[in-house]
Amino acid sequence: MSLLDRLRAQIAQDGPISVAEYFTRCLHDPRDGYYANRPALGEGGDFLTAPGVSQMFGELIGLWLLETWTRMGSPSPVRLVEVGPGDGTLISDILRAARLLPEFLAAADLWLVEVSPPLRRAQAARLVDAPLTPRWADRLEAVPAGAPLLLVANEVLDCLPAHQFVRTQTGWAERMVGLDEKGDLAFGLKALAPSSKRSLSSEAAPPSRGEGLEPGTVVESSPAQAALGSEIGHRVARDGGTALLIDYGRDTAGAGDTLQALKAHTKVPPLAEPGQADLTVWADFPAVLAAGAEAGAMTGPILTQGAFLQALGIEARAQALAAARPDQAEKLARQLDRLTGPAQMGELFKVVCLSAPSLSPPLFGES
Ligand SMILES: C[S@@+](CC[C@H](N)C(=O)[O-])C[C@H]1O[C@@H](n2cnc3c(N)ncnc32)[C@H](O)[C@@H]1O
Repeated sequence: MSLLDRLRAQIAQDGPISVAEYFTRCLHDPRDGYYANRPALGEGGDFLTAPGVSQMFGELIGLWLLETWTRMGSPSPVRLVEVGPGDGTLISDILRAARLLPEFLAAADLWLVEVSPPLRRAQAARLVDAPLTPRWADRLEAVPAGAPLLLVANEVLDCLPAHQFVRTQTGWAERMVGLDEKGDLAFGLKALAPSSKRSLSSEAAPPSRGEGLEPGTVVESSPAQAALGSEIGHRVARDGGTALLIDYGRDTAGAGDTLQALKAHTKVPPLAEPGQADLTVWADFPAVLAAGAEAGAMTGPILTQGAFLQALGIEARAQALAAARPDQAEKLARQLDRLTGPAQMGELFKVVCLSAPSLSPPLFGES
């Protein structure tokens, strides 16, 4: 029985499910979920991420990590952690840059937090000749404590489920996935009691004030994104270190339906092919930073990816690569534009940092 048929049967029997539950089933159903079964990154897959655009992305993040580790006092050991490493391109580019500082490689203990069995295999293959041997964990909590953290997560927040709330004439309703009269999956609404409001950051709820909003306005709430911000915040506050989170998303609290399904680089309706397409929502950076700060982390500004990479010298890096390989100059210019151009990834993608309060990471800790 396909995931679609199993979802139909479950909803017919037990009633509609939240968008967040639908999202989780589509990505992580053990048999048919997208990440359990057929994740496909890259030009020939379903979506392309920044590390797949150019090696410059991971190399510059690697240099940022080396500088941060030096500012931390060069601790040994240090846990170098990537959450959601995809096909391993980012960590492989980071480790290439890290060869510049052998003392760092000697101190670093590499952990990859990955839930997807096929992606773990891809990461192992990519890192065969890497200067560090990785270990894998299912979740960040399983990475041993007791050493400072240097954590990177690119396009991971957008894989974490969000609830959707819709403003109606009479108050708030939660958007649900149910069945239409033909038995196909369809969005519907479940009215919420007027008193519904969030009491814990681990609970999803609509904003407490919605009176001025137009009926039909959608607001998203992701306790899972906030929980990752909180867990990282606790960890860096207790053990030291820093985390760099990069994703597309909002830098101020706001409304909007950002649920999106991508298959072969094309948007498809989110309910059309459960488990066959990648599903995402925007990262809610203000909520992630608030959860991290509440847990004790220092949080800096929300930078755009364009500003972050330019401050790290991506233009000079592109020029140096083009001088070494003039035949690649046009391709490098296209890659630079894709990563930093305002109409491409430069503005929509943001970079945030959660750090131990004593640390001043480059670009995030300086006033
Ligand atoms: C869009 S891919 C990004 C891959 C890589 N970071 C990159 O930039 O190319 C999302 C990654 O997050 C992982 N992931 C998805 N859901 C997750 C979850 N609930 N917890 C941890 N990782 C998750 C996926 O398996 C995958 O490695």
